[in-house]
Amino acid sequence: MERLQKLIAQAGLASRRQAEEWILQGRVSVNGRTVTELGAKADPERDYVKVDGRLIRPPGQKVYILLNKPRQVVSTADDPEGRVKVTDLVRAGRRIFPVGRLDYNTEGLILLTNDGEFSRIVASAGGPLEKVYHAKVRGTPAPEAIARLRRGIRIPGGVRLAPCRIVPLKAGSSSWYEVTLTEGRNRQVRDMFGLMGHPVLKLRRVRIGFLTDRGLAPGQHRRLTPGEVERILAAGGRRRGGRAEGGNLNRSGGSDNL
Ligand code: URA
Repeated sequence: MERLQKLIAQAGLASRRQAEEWILQGRVSVNGRTVTELGAKADPERDYVKVDGRLIRPPGQKVYILLNKPRQVVSTADDPEGRVKVTDLVRAGRRIFPVGRLDYNTEGLILLTNDGEFSRIVASAGGPLEKVYHAKVRGTPAPEAIARLRRGIRIPGGVRLAPCRIVPLKAGSSSWYEVTLTEGRNRQVRDMFGLMGHPVLKLRRVRIGFLTDRGLAPGQHRRLTPGEVERILAAGGRRRGGRAEGGNLNRSGGSDNL
């Protein structure tokens, strides 16, 4: 059980103080009954809390959102520096958190949810959902540098990265590559090319498993369909059951040998 002002604030509708005013003004109801005491509580998993007749969070409902994060937005739910957060770009009607991270200056797909199990499946290293990036780097790395990156280099701290796919897209004074990772270390793509002497100038995540950025401009988001959520949850279940990883959640894109 939680105080109503806390539930309303957690849903992202108002500050606690504002929510208290709404309660005193008789704008809040629980299971159809108007509540005007500030001490009143409700169970977010069982009770129907409404503000001005609108349900703030259907009990127990899980939320799954795919956002195309613009650059210069932080992908955490809190930011001490007060910068724009991914959660500021999405109205979910309840508290949600980003799955994994994208750097402040990285653009592209990120999932937000309030479902911890879903988050674990999407973020798990070697899990069923590969992450595909388009990276613009300074100059053109030598073929041997790209081959080393594909095999998996050792990064500072001693960790060896898993092998990955890298497909050249465009070469010149700067070059574009498509990089497909099955793990998600902090700043992984930037570190990989940076260590080869070719810093990343632009970075965009264009695919998470079968979820692409088609139709989603930077700053736009959409809810996952029930079918998409099912596919991801089922893939997590299959992994726990010990069956083959990867499954059909990744489009091959015809580049598996590169
Ligand atoms: N790799 C990076 O370097 N940055 C990201 O945001 C994601 C992957």
